Amino acid sequence: MIINLKKEKCIGKVESVDTATVVVHIIDAQLLSNVQVNHLVVIRSSKVGQYLIGMVNKIVRKYNPTDSLMEDADLEEMSSYDLVKISLVGTFIDKLGSKENIFKRTLQSVAEIEAECFTMSSETLSGFMSVISQSSSMMDNPLKIGKYVLNDTAEAYLDGNKFFQRHAVITGSTGSGKSFTVATVIEQIEKLKSANAILFDIHGEYSTIVGEGIRHYKIAGPGNIISDDIMFLPYWLLTYDEMLSLLLDRSDNNAPNQAMMFSKYVIELKSKYLETEGKKQMQDLFTIDSPIPYNINELVEKLRAKDTEMVSGANNRTKQGDFYGKLSRFVQRLENKISDKRLNFMFSNKEDLMKYDYMEKLCEMLLASASNAGGGKNNRLFGSSIGCFAINCFVNCKSDFFYSAMDRYRKNSSNSFIL
Ligand SMILES: Nc1ncnc2c1ncn2[C@@H]1O[C@H](COP(=O)(O)OP(=O)(O)OP(=O)(O)O)[C@@H](O)[C@H]1O
Ligand SMILES: [Mg+2]
Repeated sequence: MIINLKKEKCIGKVESVDTATVVVHIIDAQLLSNVQVNHLVVIRSSKVGQYLIGMVNKIVRKYNPTDSLMEDADLEEMSSYDLVKISLVGTFIDKLGSKENIFKRTLQSVAEIEAECFTMSSETLSGFMSVISQSSSMMDNPLKIGKYVLNDTAEAYLDGNKFFQRHAVITGSTGSGKSFTVATVIEQIEKLKSANAILFDIHGEYSTIVGEGIRHYKIAGPGNIISDDIMFLPYWLLTYDEMLSLLLDRSDNNAPNQAMMFSKYVIELKSKYLETEGKKQMQDLFTIDSPIPYNINELVEKLRAKDTEMVSGANNRTKQGDFYGKLSRFVQRLENKISDKRLNFMFSNKEDLMKYDYMEKLCEMLLASASNAGGGKNNRLFGSSIGCFAINCFVNCKSDFFYSAMDRYRKNSSNSFIL
């Protein structure tokens, strides 16, 4: 039996209980030397063969209130008592059905007032940690992240399924090993059969990680040309909202007009592109958010023409059009972005980036297995091994961009990209 509660290990009794925290009153101040913050303790449960496991998070010494009122009271002579605050972390069960020694991260029973609290001997601690390690190592794909500080013979594992299916955060003070842990996890997922992970390496600290399934890409800088390890993210992959968040100044009185004309011309230009590419059947289906290339210089021309348009008025005289002067600032912002060398990755006018299937190439870059195992196209893109990329971001580029583009791609496995 792993947990064997011995009388000499008893440090005190439960004095108060509050959902998952209990306060234990230490029976003898001498015993306090056995208790340390972050150490595990065992609390006897109301059910036979079950124990509540808790972690010490506070130790306080209290002085008797009547003594403290006495004048010139000497702290040494005042009567005191010690309290230990414990967070309950789970339940240890000796036997459940045919299984023995099980640890559950739920509280199967509540601590009772006067229940005894025990410290763990080193054998108990080793036994307990090995139970945790074993149950973790029986997971489908355990990710080993190191050893427990409390017992360095016990390995610590992460359940990859749970870790990646939910949001998770790795915290710790500077130098505590967060980056090291991430690198360890990446090296392990790279070896898994059907894992697919993308790493945004903003500071380039993972550039030395190598592996068969790992690919490093760099977001194109001002002078970069198209090559296998450089990533361009053309503007036409952005949705309407993403594009406007880049270009529109919402405090401008003319913002609604500008957004309206932008949307009108982008749809026209996308339609024109589909026509010249001979994809007429798609002209009825696409939306402004569909990732279809369009010529941004033509967009500027159209907007500028509208901004300076003169129309015929009364008495054969010309007058200013409805949008005269209202689009100037928008056009200026757009031109500034296009000519900003730092945004080369987005507004580069290289011909290859204006091809209809560029998005497919991009997704292959991000999702394809390094070994191209799998055969079928979808397998290659979505299955097998890991497509991992490291970005050195030169500008603030929104990660939403990647997610929405990839998401749209995933929804369109039939290769049409139309929402
Ligand atoms: N489990 C480990 N075993 C051996 N060395 C480690 C371990 N974890 C971290 N280190 C070492 O400790 C140092 C700091 O680790 P790391 O850079 O991962 O910390 P960090 O938490 O990411 O810090 P920062 O907050 O500054 O980014 C590194 O030199 C690393 O090699
Ligand atoms: Mg770090």
